[in-house]
Amino acid sequence: MHTATLIAEQVHLKSSSVIGWATGGTMLGVYRSLRDMNLSFQHTRAFNLDEYIGLPAAHPQSYHHYMRHNFFDHVGMPEAQCHIPDGGCDPEHAIAKYEALLAAHGPIDLQLLGLGKNGHIGFNEPGASFNGTVHKTVLSPTTIEANARYFEASTDVPREAITMGIKTILSARKIVLLACGHAKADAVAEMIEGVMSITCPATALQLHDDVTIVLDSAAASELQGCEPS
Ligand code: F6R
Repeated sequence: MHTATLIAEQVHLKSSSVIGWATGGTMLGVYRSLRDMNLSFQHTRAFNLDEYIGLPAAHPQSYHHYMRHNFFDHVGMPEAQCHIPDGGCDPEHAIAKYEALLAAHGPIDLQLLGLGKNGHIGFNEPGASFNGTVHKTVLSPTTIEANARYFEASTDVPREAITMGIKTILSARKIVLLACGHAKADAVAEMIEGVMSITCPATALQLHDDVTIVLDSAAASELQGCEPS
């Protein structure tokens, strides 16, 4: 709810906000809350973090489908203002097109992020350059395993994706990261209290001066000085 409120505040402040959206299980509650707020996103522009390579927009496990089904179709977002990398065409073409759109309409006013168990943000897996722009990436075994729950078999999870790079993410004016559950606790502690390193991509957020991190108590449980509840 807190995350949805931060996004609502951004839209109230600037109705034409450019918002960077994330997918995944953690975000479902955010989209539910935003739908319930009956807020108009009509004048906003959306850029999603990532998309699987090999899944066309109509595929039920694509992030295009996720966003339409969970959010865009419910809040009056004109299709022409919703941008997600195209996983169904030649990746080089999709990347160039996405970069051009970001250049034309950016910077992103508010970027929403989830967090991978391995510290990934977007699909920037451990080892990703902090200087990366939109690019093709190979998903780590941890990410494939975590996302297998949305597919019939883990072998169905695409091995590659297009993702905004860390440099793209850091160019957003404001960042809001949401993490929930014990599975994220180690990555959260590393992101906030660890040494900045490409082995934990989320530590790159230490370079940004306007990041809000929203955690439940389980995700915060490995932070120093955080009493378990
Ligand atoms: C999704 C994305 C990922 C997820 C992360 C957490 O667009 O970029 O970084 O935010 O994998 O996913 P969940 O919420 O399913 O644990």
